[in-house]
Amino acid sequence: MSAPNKSYDPVQVTPLNADEVERARDDALRAIAVAPDLDALKAVRLDHAGDRSALALANREIGALPPAAKAEAGKRVGAARRTVNDALAQRQQALEQERDERVLVEESVDVTLPWDRTPPGARHPLSTLAERVADLFVAMGYEWSEGPEVEAEWFNFDALNLGPDHPARTTADTFWVGSPDSGVVLRTQTSPVQIRTMLRRDPPIYAVSPGRVYRTDELDATHTPVFNQVEGLVVDEGITMAHLRGTLDHFAGAMFGEGTVTRLRPSYFPFTEPSAEMDLRCWICHGDSVGNPDRPCRTCSSEGWIEWGGCGMVNPRVLVACGVDPDRYSGFAFGMGLERTLMSRHGAEDMRDMVEGDVRFTRPFGTEI
Ligand code: DAH
Repeated sequence: MSAPNKSYDPVQVTPLNADEVERARDDALRAIAVAPDLDALKAVRLDHAGDRSALALANREIGALPPAAKAEAGKRVGAARRTVNDALAQRQQALEQERDERVLVEESVDVTLPWDRTPPGARHPLSTLAERVADLFVAMGYEWSEGPEVEAEWFNFDALNLGPDHPARTTADTFWVGSPDSGVVLRTQTSPVQIRTMLRRDPPIYAVSPGRVYRTDELDATHTPVFNQVEGLVVDEGITMAHLRGTLDHFAGAMFGEGTVTRLRPSYFPFTEPSAEMDLRCWICHGDSVGNPDRPCRTCSSEGWIEWGGCGMVNPRVLVACGVDPDRYSGFAFGMGLERTLMSRHGAEDMRDMVEGDVRFTRPFGTEI
């Protein structure tokens, strides 16, 4: 507050004359009425009610008036300031309400809209494929049979007729849990589930077993130390190679399309006799690339056929190891790689894509229910 004005000069107190006060008040009211938003109103408040506003200056001058004039000037300025402050408060309230209503509309959230701020990830196509394969066999009356990934050496090798010196047992192929004397391995194939199934129940047996297996391979475009197989096992009276062939043809048709051409190529596995590899006719060149250097085929390396998996008639020694009478029962078995199946079905070319867990790879496969 300014000190009393000892040398009273009427020119300095013009802000106090009635017209000036009214004008200052009306200017303020006009500015308040047209302030379009809260920021503008803040500026108006500063201009018309702040320390340097005309009315504040007038108020300050009151002290300098002769005592007789003080009361009236005080009333006049006081009334004008109150009117302005009331108008400011009202406008403030109106603008705040306007803002709140606008924000409610503009920032309203439609809770019924689908949200995807945190993408839910995607099922791995190998999981979906494993279930599809299992479903296919379950629909034919097979049971879904499972075994552990940390497996006893006996189930993984001995019972499957792989002798003690079989090269697959070496650390070059097999992950031993602890030392190679531990008798415990990460299963190298799903075939030990055959043994577990035969020990668990009596024939007739129709079982399908998808699952993860492990081998000491380096990860590259065509190898991975962890991969998936699907094992099939049938043990019943009168089972022949024709049943195996028919079953695998049905399987191939379901995986790669009706009419997929297959062939059985003689092979060797200790747990089947006879053994075979099942090949699929190359669906790109249909064999036309064979012996035809002008039309090479990348998909089958111009072989005309693509290897799919191993199979055969269950070796009687395996039946005996599981307490199944080989004179009464016979069976077939097969083991297909699921990665290879996925690669063939979907043209996925690099094995690493399947293990890295990047949803950009998995998402395009969609989610099958
Ligand atoms: N276990 C074999 C492998 O990993 C695949 C296989 C071959 C499974 C023949 C079978 C079979 O059931 O009968 O290479």
